[in-house]
Amino acid sequence: MTVLPILKHPNSLLRQKSAQVEEFTPELAAFAEDMKETMLAAPGAGLAAPQVGKLIRMIVMDASDDDADYGSTVLALVNPEITLSEGKMLYEEGCLSVNDYKAKVKRFARLQVKAQDACGQPFSLDYEGRRAVILQHEIDHLDGVLFIDHLSRLKQELYNRQLKRNSKK
Ligand code: NI
Repeated sequence: MTVLPILKHPNSLLRQKSAQVEEFTPELAAFAEDMKETMLAAPGAGLAAPQVGKLIRMIVMDASDDDADYGSTVLALVNPEITLSEGKMLYEEGCLSVNDYKAKVKRFARLQVKAQDACGQPFSLDYEGRRAVILQHEIDHLDGVLFIDHLSRLKQELYNRQLKRNSKK
């Protein structure tokens, strides 16, 4: 397994729409393992394929019950689709592609998702709270959306200023 380099905002690949996976090859399964390894090494709660430069609809996530069990259950979801979303919650998020910034984002509190595993087997998930947020954050990546896009214009401007300052350092 390989730890892959993670692309950083404002890389333009992070803004593309990723393609549906049609073929479930051994290479795809190996790539899923590399993504899990990369996520755990970072460490992060989730990772989407475009963050490592591959524009396909695949994400991996820490699906542990709580933070204390981090890494005990890591899932790969191929072609994830939201089948139900309800409730609202504010949750503090960061992103492996967005350096040194965290902010509270308004998300659905509960999410049902159907997906396939790296071998093409269909399954579904029903999560609330932290894991529902991870799913929304990672599925956003497949459509070129970053968590900072959900913030108010004022917060986005403050963030952009911080980014410029940091890039001059
Ligand atoms: Ni992210």
